[in-house]
Amino acid sequence: MSLLQRERDIIVQNEYIDTFDFAEIEEFIKNANKELFISHKFKNSTTTLVQPRGGFPTYNKQFELYEEFMKANIDVMPLTIDSHTRLNDYASSKKMLMLSEANEVDMLNGYPLITHGYNTTRKMVTNFNKPMSLRHGTPDARLLVETALASGIFEIEGGPITYLLPYSKNFPLDKAFLYWKYVEKICANYSVLNEPINRESFGPLTATLVPPCITIVIQLLEMLLSLEEGVKSFSVSFAQHGSLIQDVVTANVLRKTAKFYAKKIDCENATINLVYHQWMGAFPRNKEFSDSLINTSSVISALVRADKIITKTRDEAFGIPTMECNAQSVANTKYTFKILRGLPHISDEEEETNLEAEVHSIMEAVFNDNADTLWRKVFNSIKNGTIDVPFSPHIINHNEVITIRDNFNNIRIIEKGNLPISDKCFTYEKSKVKLSEDKTSVINKIICDIGVMHE
Ligand code: 5AD
Repeated sequence: MSLLQRERDIIVQNEYIDTFDFAEIEEFIKNANKELFISHKFKNSTTTLVQPRGGFPTYNKQFELYEEFMKANIDVMPLTIDSHTRLNDYASSKKMLMLSEANEVDMLNGYPLITHGYNTTRKMVTNFNKPMSLRHGTPDARLLVETALASGIFEIEGGPITYLLPYSKNFPLDKAFLYWKYVEKICANYSVLNEPINRESFGPLTATLVPPCITIVIQLLEMLLSLEEGVKSFSVSFAQHGSLIQDVVTANVLRKTAKFYAKKIDCENATINLVYHQWMGAFPRNKEFSDSLINTSSVISALVRADKIITKTRDEAFGIPTMECNAQSVANTKYTFKILRGLPHISDEEEETNLEAEVHSIMEAVFNDNADTLWRKVFNSIKNGTIDVPFSPHIINHNEVITIRDNFNNIRIIEKGNLPISDKCFTYEKSKVKLSEDKTSVINKIICDIGVMHE
């Protein structure tokens, strides 16, 4: 028996789950309807697929949510997982699910997939026959992903960096790399049975003044770590920056460099998709303004010809959206796409040259680390600040990079910490902003820049 299979047998021996029948699961995936595979949808679609987020504790409410989404002509269904499950605390998920069922109050902020189990969840997934996407934020997602795949959920979001640095303070980064390696391997293994399982990285990171070069580098590295385990369909992603041109430039450079680096490790046969997140930062409390902001995102997404968009709702500033409001956002985004056709291709040569140079410099520094495997090189690069995510709560993150918005709302690097970008690039970044001599006013400007979408 392979080492991986031995580890799998251990992972699925858990008091909170039913017996895992691997042979039955393989048979199910082999014969699963192609409509359940987003990789199949990507191949056969010429427009941007629309996907919200969404998860309720009880089976019935999750079912109702999907019925609402179906009325809105949704392309990709979400399954957002509750926080206890994300932190591998299945006992609390179970207890809170029982309370939610008994009192008709939502005591969880998502669907406790492990507690419901794959036999139950599969019924819901196959009933709607739409591709499902697993949205979580889990550093150790081994059991969660086993359960998702067994349920017919054939897109898995996350990665060792993007599901750790924005979400966790103390979870060990080296463990996250190894746990995600397991996830990549099982996704790769199931991919040969039918259509490929799609993996998606979480580009928004902290959604707080993250400069595009850092987002892109992390997207590329998670893509490479996935492809090297045999994954054949991967989505890189990023979130609206707050500047239309910075989004366009990011999309162009991300697409180009993803192809370049996939080829570099002889994985050019994998399909790479681009996913765009509607504004992920702090939202206005005025719901009409939120509608406006969300619509701007849809326009930009159409302009960059994203393969998929992740939607937001006008309830964002207030908590988890109602199912009606969530479905309305899907319908609105679909409507905007319908009326936006034949948009021009836009680019900005100077910005793209600068961003691409930054990305290559950081990637080169990562590759030049003297560790023996890619994940160890990436681990060391995060540890020494070659990769540094603004506003990450994680103890390993350097937090030395400082960014601010220029007059056009572009995010610019004003302190580079240990980022190995050239003097030329750094000078370019700094030339775009006129900083006050007074430190307090710079800090106040950064605070305003975080709340840039507040009215
Ligand atoms: N249902 C719908 N949306 C959710 N989000 C988080 N949990 C849920 C849920 N259970 C959304 C938040 C935030 C994004 C990261 O995910 O509103 O916008």
